[in-house]
Amino acid sequence: MNGYEYKRCSFLVEWDDEDASLVRKFQMLYYLEDDTIELYELRKNKGARPRLFLKRTRVAAVNLGSMHVGSTFNVMGRNMRISDFADEFTRNKLGKLLQVVDRCVDRFVELLFIIEVLNQDDFLPLYLKRTFAMLKPDAMDRSDEILNLIKDRGFKIVNMKTVSLDRNDILRLYKEHEGKPFLGFLVNYLTTSPCLAMELVAENAVSHWMEFVGPTDSERARVEAPGSLRALYGRDKGYNAVHGSKNEEDSKRELDIFFPSTQVGNLSPPRTSATLEGTLCIVKPHALKEGHLGSILQEIRKGGFRVIAMQMFYVERVNAEELYEVYKGVVPEYADMVDELTQGACVALEVRYDANVGDSHSRFRELAGPRDPDIARHIEPSTLRAKFGKTRVENAVHCTDIPEDVVSEVEYFFLMLQ
Ligand code: GTP
Ligand code: MG
Repeated sequence: MNGYEYKRCSFLVEWDDEDASLVRKFQMLYYLEDDTIELYELRKNKGARPRLFLKRTRVAAVNLGSMHVGSTFNVMGRNMRISDFADEFTRNKLGKLLQVVDRCVDRFVELLFIIEVLNQDDFLPLYLKRTFAMLKPDAMDRSDEILNLIKDRGFKIVNMKTVSLDRNDILRLYKEHEGKPFLGFLVNYLTTSPCLAMELVAENAVSHWMEFVGPTDSERARVEAPGSLRALYGRDKGYNAVHGSKNEEDSKRELDIFFPSTQVGNLSPPRTSATLEGTLCIVKPHALKEGHLGSILQEIRKGGFRVIAMQMFYVERVNAEELYEVYKGVVPEYADMVDELTQGACVALEVRYDANVGDSHSRFRELAGPRDPDIARHIEPSTLRAKFGKTRVENAVHCTDIPEDVVSEVEYFFLMLQ
């Protein structure tokens, strides 16, 4: 066989000619280079030369994937069926190749699934590890600033949740301190107001975080580790702003308390700090990926708002569709908005306007700015969307549009999706 012949395959094809009440048989040549076919009718009389029936041409829906024995296609209104391979090259090479392709397609689907799972941060490359970290009540007022430092230090936050701890939560977290004289202090300190629990990912995450946290005593930290979080945000040995897991084993145990993958027994994770009185803001996946969370929180604080609750979510498509249902058929970007919200982690915030809780919704819409960031940059350059938005879909934040939806949207995230 010469090189030319290798580029075409040969099949036997049948057409049930109902008018003539007979089955006509053809040889079909299929040219791989351009998906064209050529048909020769096979004559009944022995020795009769096949008659050219269709000059080399392209026929809709004919391609390598449809070259199976048994597959059918339409040529000028005639329904043709491939009945067999017509030469050994086609049988051995193409037949086998297609089997391999079929398996590869299955493998490819598996691979896509694995990639999707990997994207969800459930699996980490071997060189990355997780650790548990927590901002204690005295650090919460400056959590925006601290989140920026955490990012600059090379940690990725893959889970976060503000929690209102109770005594039992603290006894679980600090079980090694049972009976210690400072346990009562610790319970008081950590139950006064919410903490921010986080799952961090980095190389040597546990030791890297402990080093960043610094010595237990903040005064000592200011001498021995001046750049550490306790040096910067803690007061003394008791009020020391942050917590970190001591080792891998503690980190697993503590992560399991706050972010259990499955709920074991009747121990539920510490409850959210949400009060369901504020209005909802979602920091969209693109804004998180671009590292804007800390800066967005800073703007929210400067705007006179208090963040009552904050939690990271990996929103499922069905939930995104439900949240955005009011925009379906109304806003042309509806489908893209659903896509964006499911692209990766987002952070839901319950925010409250400090001066007057009742104004939270309207004031927050003002702070968010016009839906389109380009318009926002022109007419409201100090708004969140003007500063952190890119397009009408990637516009940094979602906020509740109409006052009637405020309660249901906050509840959707901080009650239903818990
Ligand atoms: P964590 O990351 O919070 O676990 O701190 P640590 O590992 O540096 O310290 P440790 O586990 O020994 O103590 C837990 C927490 O209890 C400390 O972070 C302090 O908040 C508090 N604590 C520890 N020792 C004392 C103490 O002597 N006096 C007081 N008032 N509080 C203490
Ligand atoms: Mg400790």
